Amino acid sequence: MFKTRITEMANVKYPVLMGGMQWLARAELVSAVANAGGLAFLTAVSCCSVKELREEIRRTRDLTDKPFGVNISMLPVLMPGDLTDAFMDLVCEEGIPVVETAGRSPEKYVDLLHDAGVKLFHKVPALRFAQKAESIGADAVIIVGFECGGHPGMDDVPSLIQTPAAAETLSIPVIAAGGYCDGKGLIAALALGAEGVLLGTRFMASEESPMHDNFKAWMINAQATDTMVVERSIRNAARIMKNEAARTVARMEAEGATLEELFPVIAGSVSREAYLSGDLDQGTIACGQAVGRIREIKPVAAIMADIMDEAKSVLARLNNLAQS
Ligand SMILES: Cc1cc2nc3c(=O)[nH]c(=O)nc-3n(C[C@H](O)[C@H](O)[C@H](O)COP(=O)(O)O)c2cc1C
Repeated sequence: MFKTRITEMANVKYPVLMGGMQWLARAELVSAVANAGGLAFLTAVSCCSVKELREEIRRTRDLTDKPFGVNISMLPVLMPGDLTDAFMDLVCEEGIPVVETAGRSPEKYVDLLHDAGVKLFHKVPALRFAQKAESIGADAVIIVGFECGGHPGMDDVPSLIQTPAAAETLSIPVIAAGGYCDGKGLIAALALGAEGVLLGTRFMASEESPMHDNFKAWMINAQATDTMVVERSIRNAARIMKNEAARTVARMEAEGATLEELFPVIAGSVSREAYLSGDLDQGTIACGQAVGRIREIKPVAAIMADIMDEAKSVLARLNNLAQS
């Protein structure tokens, strides 16, 4: 049920994907999604070297015989020490079936990936970038709405507008992301013309998610209003949980802080520490508005089963409505 060009391309059972999540989308979580019939992306930027990513790929393969992808998040500008080139070579060498890119145009890597038989799913926060991705040869586009955890772009356009706009405009398949977290959302995304949904926040709140239980407890009590968007001043808007670090960043931005001044608060290494220690106020922690709809931490297999069961019952309800 729910076969689309995405399930065919990625050779997975369900059109449900888990996007890259720095520090969290590691072997345990990625293999759990794969074993549950979805497509998940191991996140390269959780690894400090090519060797570490290779080991993480091998570890994931020990935990699942199902397909999984690798997320290669690129910063908007090339920074010293950037490992993107080396990560791209590695995914080709390792025969990874799908790469999720984000952050800047993956144009430079299209031929490399395709020559190695790797599909390219590029994640974008606006229609114009989706069109550009199609024009350079991406195999699918993931379009995120303003609700999403992580980077929603600078235009503040929500998923209800982004998803159908991309699906109507592009010929390649569109994957909807941002705020989707259940079976109702899956059916809505398919109705809007998407061929899959990509979730971050919902899988962040799973048993297999490798973050301190304090964050899981926070998530199941949080409201949709408990996230905020920061880093607009450096044109890197990010939706994160509303905590002390988020308020500090907002205050510093209002006072005109530069990237260098913000860096000690927003650096990925600080969030990693927080995930380990359970300090809820330390670090900027990506989190989408869907957090307000998550009331239970469950194993990934149960989350996926709930999504598919609910999708089927929503469809049955709609069919009944159509016949009445
Ligand atoms: C904790 C967390 C970390 C994330 N880290 C990354 C990342 O490293 N690279 C990336 O491309 N997207 C990242 N994202 C974005 C997700 O892949 C996905 O696009 C987003 O979560 C979808 O919206 P949703 O949170 O409403 O489901 C992150 C999201 C979350 C919640």
